Amino acid sequence: MKILVTGGAGYIGSHTCVELLAKGHEVVIVDNFVNASPKSVERVRKISGKNAELYEGDIRDSALLDGIFARHKIDWVIHFAGLKAVGESCAKPVEYYDNNIGGTLVLLQAMRKAGCKKIVFSSSATVYGTPERLPLDETCRVGGTTNPYGSSKFFQEIMLEDVYKADNEWTVVLLRYFNPVGAHESGLIGEDPKGIPNNLTPYIAKVAIGELKEVGVFGDDYDTHDGTGVRDYIHVVDLAKGHVAAIDKIKNSGVHVYNLGTGVGYSVLDVIHAFEKACGHKLAYSIKPRRAGDIAACYADAAKAKRELGWQAELGIDEMCSSLWKWQSKNPNGYN
Ligand code: NAD
Ligand code: UFG
Repeated sequence: MKILVTGGAGYIGSHTCVELLAKGHEVVIVDNFVNASPKSVERVRKISGKNAELYEGDIRDSALLDGIFARHKIDWVIHFAGLKAVGESCAKPVEYYDNNIGGTLVLLQAMRKAGCKKIVFSSSATVYGTPERLPLDETCRVGGTTNPYGSSKFFQEIMLEDVYKADNEWTVVLLRYFNPVGAHESGLIGEDPKGIPNNLTPYIAKVAIGELKEVGVFGDDYDTHDGTGVRDYIHVVDLAKGHVAAIDKIKNSGVHVYNLGTGVGYSVLDVIHAFEKACGHKLAYSIKPRRAGDIAACYADAAKAKRELGWQAELGIDEMCSSLWKWQSKNPNGYN
């Protein structure tokens, strides 16, 4: 099948392109490089030995999208393009809604015009807000998001559901990612955050390589096994394979919602210790106050994806840390 991958040069997009190409799919990428480098696409080609056609541009540019749909008979769109930094979204809500909501609207218009009605959307566990119960399954309450980034994901899910309600020929797949981490085993592609990382594992990796002094552990008084925050970390390669499973398995129109996680929660201290094993030395850390907006624990019930897509995460915390360490040590400055 021919897949249009929006945001395909980014962290999860590039790993997904590798897995799509490995399964014999054709890949067309559109990315404006607001948070990525064209080098990641070159490396996707290198890993797979196949071509992925690249269009540099913004998904809010309807002429660009119409041109892509005119040139290619696209079977599915996998829609990663969006801004994703929680803190930045609080400072720049207009930019976040413009890019994330506005981008999805232009994309949906172009798809409708071209008669392409199959979309996989990158959603997030953040749509569950404060978890109603744990583990989180797909029937748990959504909403109650606490920042513009999370709200944009929630609103986009609603928009996509409405598109299906109005035209039952659409196939809408909402994949709710838990915490994607790690990198491709080649060490050629990985996450390349700009500036000081906000997320835990890229921060730990920069401490391990000596670029940052110590890991700040945001709170040790949560109701968890060691008091630090618990999350469901999922290897980005497993996550990428979840997208391939979705487009290969889902044949019926409708709205299909899946959690993509491992079902296992690790605390901040668990992750630091797993990373110490991967990099072979101790890591400095200190306990800091809780970070505003954080929840104690978040992990998935991933049974639905296993049952219906035949997909489950195969890689554990050790592979997540060792692959991230390989990427970090081979590319201390990311793609630069
Ligand atoms: P990323 O920033 O690495 O990838 C997003 C890509 O989209 C980048 O390459 C960026 O340049 C591109 N992009 C952004 N706006 C664009 C626009 N208007 N036009 C064209 N390209 C544009 O992020 P990622 O971690 O790979 O995340 C991919 C998707 O998954 C995002 O939608 C994100 O919100 C979602 N998600 C990520 C996480 C996570 O923790 N990484 C968790 C849940 C959901
Ligand atoms: N943490 C630290 N120190 C740090 C960074 C994080 O202790 O320097 C802790 C956090 O308090 C939390 C855990 O590590 O307990 C994970 O934090 P991240 O920032 O890595 O991830 P979050 O769970 O906060 O959020 C991420 C994405 C969101 C997404 C969510 C669910 O940033 O966009 O996963 O998919 F919505």
